[in-house]
Amino acid sequence: MVSVQFVCLGNICRSPAAQGVMETLVRTRGMDDRFAIDSAGTAGYHIGRPPDGRMLASAQKRGYELASRAKQFEKSHLRSRTLILAMDRENLRDILSLAEGVPAHIKLFSDYLDESWPRDVPDPYYGGEEGFEYVLDMLEAGCPKILDELLKKF
Ligand code: 4NP
Repeated sequence: MVSVQFVCLGNICRSPAAQGVMETLVRTRGMDDRFAIDSAGTAGYHIGRPPDGRMLASAQKRGYELASRAKQFEKSHLRSRTLILAMDRENLRDILSLAEGVPAHIKLFSDYLDESWPRDVPDPYYGGEEGFEYVLDMLEAGCPKILDELLKKF
């Protein structure tokens, strides 16, 4: 099983949406038996909660059902996931603070995007609906590239 974990701060906006986009992509390509996709937050504020209602609504309009419940990133995930993708540089720093050195399987989501996109998937929590749409645009651009890279390796 190839396991991919998306990590943001609260695990209620960006990373659950990334999980939903990636799960749908893998399912559409008939590969859901080979991939386990999940997400986590570096903070524990929202543990057990469903994704933010604004992200649920924006995702649903594009055909994504987000069924995750928030959980906090744990050190044990460092070993158990094939690829860990931080949504922004702060999330990356927080994950790396639990690791030794800079393991090659921990990356920034935008490492898979060209330079027309920002380095950080912007946190939409304190903004308006357009922020949630922008996050989904970014996820829909990056997830196919991530899957293509994984298929070359595994
Ligand atoms: P996320 O967004 O990291 O994309 O899930 C946030 C959700 C909640 C908070 C911050 C960011 N918060 O401060 O509660």
